[in-house]
Amino acid sequence: MAAVVDTPRASFAPSTFVIAPENPGDVVARESLLDRAMGPGRRRKSSEKLRRGQLPAEGLAFVARDVDGHVIGTVRLWNVEAGVNREGGAVPALLLGPLAVDPAHEGKGIGGMLMRAAIEEARNRGHGAILLVGDAAYYERFGFFAARAQHLVMPGPFERNRFLALELKEGWLVGAAGMLVASGRKLALPPVRRAA
Ligand SMILES: CC(C)(COP(=O)(O)OP(=O)(O)OC[C@H]1O[C@@H](n2cnc3c(N)ncnc32)[C@H](O)[C@@H]1OP(=O)(O)O)[C@@H](O)C(=O)NCCC(=O)NCCS
Repeated sequence: MAAVVDTPRASFAPSTFVIAPENPGDVVARESLLDRAMGPGRRRKSSEKLRRGQLPAEGLAFVARDVDGHVIGTVRLWNVEAGVNREGGAVPALLLGPLAVDPAHEGKGIGGMLMRAAIEEARNRGHGAILLVGDAAYYERFGFFAARAQHLVMPGPFERNRFLALELKEGWLVGAAGMLVASGRKLALPPVRRAA
């Protein structure tokens, strides 16, 4: 999946970017972008506990590239269990984040394009709901609201009014209660070296 977008809001020559699946060669550029956009505190977030040692959900890691192919935006989603439902069964869901756009390219619609691409692909893959921790004033435009996550908790400190959810299947989170738990594929650990 890839979408080329001419951003119409720029008052100078329109800049062009493309949303595409992340590939292994993007990792260094993505991490550098996250450091620039979010600062060193990003690794202390409660969401990070659900991402550490995990691979993103299948097919749900995206980058935005400029015309030269440089990474200027990133978003990934992660498999989680969102508590249990009224029957006591685990509720599979996705955790979104981090979402970040290179500060030099903010306000061109790149964050919005990344969000819409991620939501559309999650829906196409049959997922039922997406959760995230972020500013409601930004994420409500994509359908994320705190009410949907009201009986769920993060595995660490979080602000209730910033803990938001979007149901991709109506009623998916009704009755869901409890703590989010990572449920995705594990990152392969490097082989342990043993002395001869
Ligand atoms: C938040 C972020 C991803 C937005 O990316 P972007 O490409 O600038 O977003 P868009 O161009 O799609 O949207 C810009 C609009 O969102 C608004 N916006 C940006 N951040 C916002 C926030 N935290 N709260 C409310 N509105 C916000 C802008 O004011 C702008 O509004 P307008 O359309 O009325 O002019 C980007 O600013 C960023 O990387 N910030 C640092 C990292 C971060 O906070 N990530 C989110 C937490 S996981």
